[in-house]
Amino acid sequence: MTDTFTKDIVDGLTAKDKHLPSKYFYDDNGSRIFQEIMNMPEYYPTNAEFEILSMQSKQIIEALKFSRPFNIVELGAGDGFKTFKLLEYLVNNEVDFHYVPIDISQEAIDILTRRLKEKLPALKIDPKVGDYFEILKDNRQSDYPSLLLFLGGNIGNYLEHKAKELLALFHKNMKRGDKLLIGFDLKKNPIIIHNAYYDKHGITKRFNLNLLVRINRTLDADFKIDDFDFYCHYNPITGDVKSYIVSLRKQTVHLKAIDKYIHFDHDELIWTELSKKYALEEINDLAEHAKFKVENNFLDCKHYFTDSLWQK
Ligand code: AVI
Repeated sequence: MTDTFTKDIVDGLTAKDKHLPSKYFYDDNGSRIFQEIMNMPEYYPTNAEFEILSMQSKQIIEALKFSRPFNIVELGAGDGFKTFKLLEYLVNNEVDFHYVPIDISQEAIDILTRRLKEKLPALKIDPKVGDYFEILKDNRQSDYPSLLLFLGGNIGNYLEHKAKELLALFHKNMKRGDKLLIGFDLKKNPIIIHNAYYDKHGITKRFNLNLLVRINRTLDADFKIDDFDFYCHYNPITGDVKSYIVSLRKQTVHLKAIDKYIHFDHDELIWTELSKKYALEEINDLAEHAKFKVENNFLDCKHYFTDSLWQK
């Protein structure tokens, strides 16, 4: 029982209040289900951020006030769908910059690079696979100013103290004058949020239960997927969407690879994910705490989402 995945799963499933880390949603199948989520009309963050980056590229680039050339470093670039419009604007306006997409998935980076070379042949792209912070350390040595992109509202999946830790690490690995464009999903009518996460198609349910499928495969476990359900709840006061897997009966699951038995009560919950929604004042507080200065908030027309521009 040495690897981190096994340790995290066993720690989570043997805790008094069971929990599993949402970062483990994203195996190949989970990543495909997440693409399905992003394509649902109810999952508004995708369209909201796409609107910001396509309609306000000019304003975002002007707000940087960077000398040329500069770097755009994207953390967790994925398929690069959102960023495309920003890159397209820069290439069409012959702006001198380098794009450095970073992702842990070699496959995602290969697909992204191939697509971008095809669609924007003049783009100077320097893709990197690996750990954000190792690569960011290199970026500190660059003579050019850098814009870091942390998009998609991923910060919402971190508990407050973890979000603060992550932002402090970004800060530490940036040069003075570098900027961070970071996506936050905003508090809004609770019904809209509820429908985006408790979706009627059952895609988010499949996304959560896929984690049990992954544990079955990786730890030779015998979770019976039909004996579990999905529940999620938005608290409009705290802004927390919390997602859970629910055990539909009293049952025992055997993790054969490590010969460990996990007991579930009828209706027992496994907390799987936090998707926090922010108010603009909370974003300011978070930036201030990490010693950044908030320069602009770029919101979509419905004010569902912001890409917040911070300066070190
Ligand atoms: C990746 N992350 C920002 C998504 C979110 O909205 O929290 C993951 C997700 N979970 C359920 N739907 C989408």
